[in-house]
Amino acid sequence: MSNATDVVMQRMLTVPDFPSEGILFRDLTPVFAHGASFRSVVDGLIEPFVGKFDAVAGLEARGFLLAAAAAIDGGVGVLPIRKGGKLPGDIIGETYDLEYGSATLEVNPASLPAGSRVLVLDDVLATGGTIGASVSLIERAGWEVAGIAVVLELEALAGRERLAGRDIHALVTL
Ligand code: PRP
Repeated sequence: MSNATDVVMQRMLTVPDFPSEGILFRDLTPVFAHGASFRSVVDGLIEPFVGKFDAVAGLEARGFLLAAAAAIDGGVGVLPIRKGGKLPGDIIGETYDLEYGSATLEVNPASLPAGSRVLVLDDVLATGGTIGASVSLIERAGWEVAGIAVVLELEALAGRERLAGRDIHALVTL
């Protein structure tokens, strides 16, 4: 087990019935709040992709924390992929299904040069709706997806199947 996997398993909290009855919530807040663990997680996320990306995209909201740190670590810039209505200018959007309803993610194609290799970071891969929409946005913007890295993959929700053919790195799979 890598150090990054180890620290996630040690510090992650499992909270029953949050945010609603019957949901088992995985809280990574204590992992990120501990300095050495946070560094280990960020290093572990980018490790397979070192030298292969020109920017790091973080998915709102918890992906922002990881992407900003990883971008500094990798010596590149950070790109927030934002929920609908937050970005000005000539943005593009992708709408995806949630358990109840839908959500939209947006980005501005002018944010990075055409052909940029973008590493996608988020805290959790569940159904894959969020990352799937982000991958579509990145490609529609004229960039390449360098890879996808998450702290936690929830295998039962089959996000990896939805993202078939993509290079996905998960520190912990439950
Ligand atoms: C959570 C999580 C991922 C997404 C994963 O974010 O941080 O971004 O859900 O789920 P999926 O694979 O089924 O799409 P959430 O939508 O709760 O947003 P938040 O981080 O702004 O709270």
